Amino acid sequence: MGRLHARVYSQMREVKLVGVFDADPDTAASVANEYGCRPFLELTDLLPLVKAVTIATPTRFHAAVAEPCLQHGIACLIEKPLARDTAECQRIVDWVRQYDVPVQVGHIERFNPALRAMRTLGLKPRFMESIRISPMTFRSLDVGVVLDMMIHDIDIVLKLADSPLARVEASGFSAIGGVEDICNARLTFQNGCVANLTASRLALKTERKLRAFCPGAFVSIDFGQRTGVAIHGNPSLPAIRDIAARVRSGEIKDPSKIRYANLVRVEPLVIESIDPLRTQLESFIAAVREHRTPEVTAEDGLEAVKVAERIVQAIVPQDSDDL
Ligand SMILES: NC(=O)c1ccc[n+]([C@@H]2O[C@H](COP(=O)([O-])OP(=O)(O)OC[C@H]3O[C@@H](n4cnc5c(N)ncnc54)[C@H](O)[C@@H]3O)[C@@H](O)[C@H]2O)c1
Repeated sequence: MGRLHARVYSQMREVKLVGVFDADPDTAASVANEYGCRPFLELTDLLPLVKAVTIATPTRFHAAVAEPCLQHGIACLIEKPLARDTAECQRIVDWVRQYDVPVQVGHIERFNPALRAMRTLGLKPRFMESIRISPMTFRSLDVGVVLDMMIHDIDIVLKLADSPLARVEASGFSAIGGVEDICNARLTFQNGCVANLTASRLALKTERKLRAFCPGAFVSIDFGQRTGVAIHGNPSLPAIRDIAARVRSGEIKDPSKIRYANLVRVEPLVIESIDPLRTQLESFIAAVREHRTPEVTAEDGLEAVKVAERIVQAIVPQDSDDL
């Protein structure tokens, strides 16, 4: 992930990519060589030379690497999840206040154009369903699938539901051992909104989708394809209700001839052609330059990790002794 950030920074006019620090000197040298900057063997040598950094170490090191950066007044984009537990996230939030330095969390899906298109509709979801599955990549094994993958959807549904969490239920399964690799969670918010989240890193295909059922509309987006559709009740419902009434009254005797899909007006969302990583980094750099609150704050990262911990605690073990 750090290599991807370095690539995008190296392409941004408003940024000078100074260097790369990695615990593995060969990785630092290879990334630095690829993107025309200096490799650093010590973080402390890099810090005096920069105004902003991306932290893309394994999650368990995020807080330890963030601390000296923030003490030096250096803005940080910290990859998701913000840190491995609530206590470490809270420490980062405290440093942001203490040192008055911007921290953005790498919840990259916030910058996915499909989600941005959906958010322009200003809908208030009552029920949401997310699915985020992929084959095992053997990365991020220091955390479970909830902190690794579901965290993206937790952050999104917290924003969309816009209400305190009332209840958390979850089921999970650990195949590799120690932490969950599959999880299904049901979040109920105080305003009645419900989010049903599924994540797996043991799937045979990759899928990243969100469906939202809202008063007057249904929206479905595909984060991977960066596509989405909306079905608005107004143009579709009168005809559907009319046919349902005629079936109920017996006027229509054979409903099998009715093509439901023809009655529904499906409108593709208008989706910008933007790269989420580039948009995320542009947003971060703009926040740093203007010394303003980033689009995804450390508090957002903390809230997502708090909910992730509640989900993991709520997991009812399924056919496994490992959880
Ligand atoms: N936003 C996303 O969609 C997304 C996708 C993948 C990974 N990530 C996040 O990015 C982070 C890194 O994941 P990855 O898959 O790139 O991991 P990785 O293991 O492939 O790479 C991590 C790099 O950090 C280096 N490293 C380890 N400890 C270090 C330390 N203390 N100081 C400096 N360098 C250190 C390693 O040598 C390695 O080069 C994780 O937090 C992960 O959750 C985010």
